Amino acid sequence: MTVHIEPTLKPKKIVPDLTANTAGIISPNPFWLASAPPANSGNQVKRAFDHGWGGAVWKTLGQPIQNVSSRFGGLHFRGTRAIGFNNIELITDRPLDVNFKEIAEVKKQYPKHAVIVSLMVESEEEWRDIILRSIDAGADGLELNFGCPHGMCERGMGSAVGQEPKACERITSWVMKYSTIPVLVKLTPNIDDIVMMGMAAKRGGANGVSLINTIKSIIGVDLDRMVVEPRVGAQSSNGGYCGAAVKPIALHMVAALAREAEFGLPISGIGGVTNWRDAAEFLALGSSSVQVCTEVMLRGYRIVDDMIEGLTTFMADRGMRSLGDLVGRAVPTYAEWGDLDMNYETVARIDADKCIGCHLCVVACDDGAHQCIHKQAGTHVPRIDESECVGCNLCQIVCPVPDCISMVQVENGYPPATWNEHMAGLGTLRPKKGAH
Ligand SMILES: Cc1cc2nc3c(=O)[nH]c(=O)nc-3n(C[C@H](O)[C@H](O)[C@H](O)COP(=O)(O)O)c2cc1C
Ligand code: SF4
Ligand code: SF4
Repeated sequence: MTVHIEPTLKPKKIVPDLTANTAGIISPNPFWLASAPPANSGNQVKRAFDHGWGGAVWKTLGQPIQNVSSRFGGLHFRGTRAIGFNNIELITDRPLDVNFKEIAEVKKQYPKHAVIVSLMVESEEEWRDIILRSIDAGADGLELNFGCPHGMCERGMGSAVGQEPKACERITSWVMKYSTIPVLVKLTPNIDDIVMMGMAAKRGGANGVSLINTIKSIIGVDLDRMVVEPRVGAQSSNGGYCGAAVKPIALHMVAALAREAEFGLPISGIGGVTNWRDAAEFLALGSSSVQVCTEVMLRGYRIVDDMIEGLTTFMADRGMRSLGDLVGRAVPTYAEWGDLDMNYETVARIDADKCIGCHLCVVACDDGAHQCIHKQAGTHVPRIDESECVGCNLCQIVCPVPDCISMVQVENGYPPATWNEHMAGLGTLRPKKGAH
């Protein structure tokens, strides 16, 4: 007897296409090594590509420098090593000839991967030479390092350029005269207004921007020796801060550019990316590729496996077929404070079945919020006085049990009204809570 097997009715799961395009630089996925030690040499970049990285921004080329020792510092926090990272390293210390030979080799062996060459030199003549050599070596794009906040800026390069709109525009326009491949200007976060610097890069003719470079910082003080860290003998200097701790600053700067209608250039997002979720957030806020430095330095090239798998699953679950379905999706939700709905109201609620009775929420609300979570006799579960709760989120943030405290919307009968509308005489604001 022949058995007839019914074809399955289960819809075929989409496998999203992760191909990324940033200003014409195409890579098989949006994950690039940032210009830094993990992209210092041909062998490293080849190994990274074998692990799955879609692109690499080569360690900045220029006149090779001499580095100091030591040069890195870590910010360790409550048992976690290096949630923040700091360095006083400069650009490449390897001869230009060697770098260009290796770039050409990598491009030959990995024609589909993106190799972007980061550059930092001084005079127009030097820019011309180094650009032509990068193009000859087969680079897919250039990244102009206008961001390094230590050492190079004292020599009139790096963030000295990135903090000065006229210099940024002028040098970008020199580069655009000579480059036949896409050019990204790498912006420094050490400024008041990132949009002003993005616009300067645009006026100079850049094809896109990448951000952020590192944040000017002192990572700590060795209290036994009374010396600033990382220690170079009996002294140190300010360095560049990066790693997980800087992500919020980077996200804000990326979003500020992405939502600026006049700007409109492609963005490569950088700063504190440690996993696929971080990357997806950068993409949702308008980056079309994402660069990673510190997390690779701490955990190795292999982290890209989880990034690719995580992003693929996330996109497939939401029916996203290509990166275009994700890039910029959250940008319209980023508004000015004055345009937020003042009448939207939430309160905290505790799931009694999940609560372990640690009372961290009670302490936080008592000392840091509005004194409206109370211990109760006869049960380990505290009680929230919703008539006093201002919906600030603090208790939810300190609660160690996932989904134990949730913020729920309450209907208060007031239609939406923003502060700006209120000031214009339109819209009534609900009565204040917790202000007595
Ligand atoms: C040790 C070290 C060296 C770096 N060297 C460069 C460099 O040569 N050129 C450059 O543009 N950025 C350089 N960076 C900055 C990174 O490319 C990146 O912008 C920054 O570290 C933020 O990303 P992250 O949080 O993933 O580390 C360096 C960063 C570190 C930690
Ligand atoms: S949301 Fe804020 S005010 Fe409300 S209970 Fe939690 S900590 Fe207190
Ligand atoms: S912090 Fe969370 S787990 Fe601890 S008492 Fe409050 S609600 Fe319960």
